[in-house]
Amino acid sequence: MKAPNIAIIGATGAVGRVFLDIITERGFPTSSIRLCASERSWGKTLSVANKTITVEEATPQLFHEMDIVFIAAGSEISSILAPVAVEQVAFVIDKSSAFRMDPDVPLVVPEVNSSDLSEHKGIVASPNCSTAPLVMVIKPLNDIVAITRVITDTYQSVSGAGSLAMKELLDQSENITSKRPINAIEFPHQIAFNIIPHIEGFLENGFTNEEMKMVEESRKILHLPDLSITATCVRVPVLIGHSEAVHIEFTEAISPGLIREILAAAPGIQVRDDPNANVYPMPIDAADKDEILAGRIRQDPANPKQISMWLSCDNLRKGAALNAIQIAEEMLRRNIPLKHRRI
Ligand SMILES: NC(=O)c1ccc[n+]([C@@H]2O[C@H](COP(=O)([O-])OP(=O)(O)OC[C@H]3O[C@@H](n4cnc5c(N)ncnc54)[C@H](OP(=O)(O)O)[C@@H]3O)[C@@H](O)[C@H]2O)c1
Repeated sequence: MKAPNIAIIGATGAVGRVFLDIITERGFPTSSIRLCASERSWGKTLSVANKTITVEEATPQLFHEMDIVFIAAGSEISSILAPVAVEQVAFVIDKSSAFRMDPDVPLVVPEVNSSDLSEHKGIVASPNCSTAPLVMVIKPLNDIVAITRVITDTYQSVSGAGSLAMKELLDQSENITSKRPINAIEFPHQIAFNIIPHIEGFLENGFTNEEMKMVEESRKILHLPDLSITATCVRVPVLIGHSEAVHIEFTEAISPGLIREILAAAPGIQVRDDPNANVYPMPIDAADKDEILAGRIRQDPANPKQISMWLSCDNLRKGAALNAIQIAEEMLRRNIPLKHRRI
């Protein structure tokens, strides 16, 4: 098969720019690359794969000329543009939450459920940036000893909310240290020197959308519709790299040593677990890495069936752009047809 024509919608954003880096680093095969963003960015140039490309409008004609369209521009834009791209017989890999729970749309982390890709009807969704590392850990463990309960508390960096949120953290930090007033626009409160237990809107059940995304997406990806799982999602003043405290209960006692062995052998996971030498995952170490980092693996003295651990992951890479590119690589590697008439 000839290398695909690809388009990246949202190429100027936090995720979009990492797409460009990863395509270049991995030598992702392309016949042509088109970059799109909002009207604000049309005419700007960006570099990818040693080429300088002008940002343009995402039009039906552009989709018609594409084989793969990556969309990282927000749910509203995805809801509008993805059906147009599919209508033009382009294959869409969507980073937003717009289609994740649609039964006709596979939601895929290639290390976990790549077999779902062949079921696509034109769109494949990539999960939330905290869901991806969580399911990558749950899957290999559950394959060895069944899991009965998962509790996760996230510590999510500001880049998870986009490039303007990164700027807001930097601006607030500078203004506070210079004793100047601050603006809180991207977050409901000041994020510099603070943490905010609130990501996306609150639902009637008291959880946030972000928390319920983690629950529902994990169940779908893992094919465990009844998995007992609870999440608390918290925004922290870190630029790049989401972390999670994860507590997993199994049907039987399992030693931290075996957990380390299973995770070390699992694809995409690096175990960093030597607390006495101050070695454990931190977002500063996970940033710019493809692997998710796992450590602080310990057995609950009050419940030998429960293991606690700490994860850090680059939310813009495995949590977003890398996962989407791996989906495309897997489709190409397995020769799964990209074309689908209509969703
Ligand atoms: N950040 C993460 O860690 C992460 C992780 C997983 C999933 N996601 C998802 O990825 C998507 C992008 O997130 P982000 O963090 O990259 O946001 P961002 O930094 O705010 O970037 C948004 C991008 O969308 C573009 N855009 C806005 N309106 C558009 C339109 N009408 N047509 C085409 N492009 C348009 C923007 O272009 P301009 O520059 O011209 O405004 C920009 O390139 C979201 O759906 C988000 O939920 C993000």
